[in-house]
Amino acid sequence: EADRMRVSVIGTGYLGATTAACLAELGFEVLGLDVDEAKIEMLRSGRVPFFEPGLEDLVVSGLESGRLRFTTSFAEVAEFADLHLICVGTPQKDESGAADLSYVNSAVDRLAPHLSRPAVVVGRSTVPVGTAATLAARLAALAPAGEEAELGWSPEFLREGFGVEDTLRPDRIVLGTDSPRVEKAVRALWHKQIDGGVPFLVTDLQTAELVKVAANAFLATKISFINAMAEVSEVAGADVIQLAQALSYDDRIGGKFLGPGLGFGGGCLPKDIRAFMARADELGVEPALSFLREVDAINQRRRARTIDIARQLIGGGFAGSRVAVLGAAFKPNSDDIRDSPALDVAATIASLGAQVTVYDPAALERARAAHPELNYADSMRGAVTDADVVLLLTEWAEFREADPDELGRLVARKRIVDGRNALDPTFWRASGWTYRALGRQ
Ligand code: UDX
Repeated sequence: EADRMRVSVIGTGYLGATTAACLAELGFEVLGLDVDEAKIEMLRSGRVPFFEPGLEDLVVSGLESGRLRFTTSFAEVAEFADLHLICVGTPQKDESGAADLSYVNSAVDRLAPHLSRPAVVVGRSTVPVGTAATLAARLAALAPAGEEAELGWSPEFLREGFGVEDTLRPDRIVLGTDSPRVEKAVRALWHKQIDGGVPFLVTDLQTAELVKVAANAFLATKISFINAMAEVSEVAGADVIQLAQALSYDDRIGGKFLGPGLGFGGGCLPKDIRAFMARADELGVEPALSFLREVDAINQRRRARTIDIARQLIGGGFAGSRVAVLGAAFKPNSDDIRDSPALDVAATIASLGAQVTVYDPAALERARAAHPELNYADSMRGAVTDADVVLLLTEWAEFREADPDELGRLVARKRIVDGRNALDPTFWRASGWTYRALGRQ
């Protein structure tokens, strides 16, 4: 009976499309909504507007089963569903770092007037703490159902590239609400996961909002911690890879997210820590999060350091040199270039006068649109041909497995900067390459 629950998913970007397709897969009747007609048309024809392993298959089978449909009409979702999930984006607004809440606000403002019977609205987007309480009041004020239109908050923790897996088998489900009706609806939504042992935590709205940003702040801090150790290792003559390995055996520390290199990028970690700091500032507890400013600064310094090492290898300025950049996506198995460290480094080097040629297995089209000033190659071999230095900046398997002898025959000079500590230095040096990495000798 629970499986016949009708759910609407508002916003069909990365989070919404994944959520909608997974819920249809679980057996629910799902109606996805987006204000972008083109996106809805694409999804209706079974195509996903971004790269996410396994998602397109789920969308196609959802459409075929009839359990997954898409619309641009708020009136239609209000009529159709009893549970509405808000999955719109909350990008960085401006230099202040604060989150842009216009999409969440508009989702509530446009849905509410159509809610004339009792309804549950649950936010999944990442929002500054305090947002949900404001939205709950706004919803009740604008909905004809009044107090019977209730709002809870249940953040998602999915990683790009693992969106389907993380949605179907989450580490935990967190729900902020004090309403038994909201709790019942969300329990019904994830009953298979909860019965299967996934921890289900019910909290107040503020705690639920905070869990998400705290998790991302912790992960960003862990990466910047090991990257700070890399900075020290470089000048002290130590090896950060061995250091990280030795740390990882302490299970209080653990080995995950302890990978030193060019640092974090993407649509979440960088903007979430900045929005978190901006919110702390508004709440008058700025000092509590001032360490995140350091976390951000360490992360940015890794980009500058990578450029320095490349400059040293070339032996002076970049003007007139040919630089091959392997990787454009912010991480492997993704075509997302938002705040991509790889593209940031590539663009800076180009601005310093080098001829930069970029190759990426999935993100070329997006990179080309965002950075028309760079050159692009359709293969790794094409990118490295005649290069004075090669920079590995996103650790795709294709690059990890590259043959140094073969690439060595294509480049002008055998020099490589391994920005992700993805290669075996001994192997590359044995093939005659000058190999440099972050945090190692
Ligand atoms: C992240 C969180 O993991 C996820 O839980 C949250 O919901 C959204 O933000 P995502 O942005 O998809 O997910 O990427 P993730 O795989 O976490 O990687 C983030 C960045 O950190 C990447 O740029 C990656 O290259 C970098 N990273 C990760 C490191 O530099 N070192 C590491 O050890 C791990």
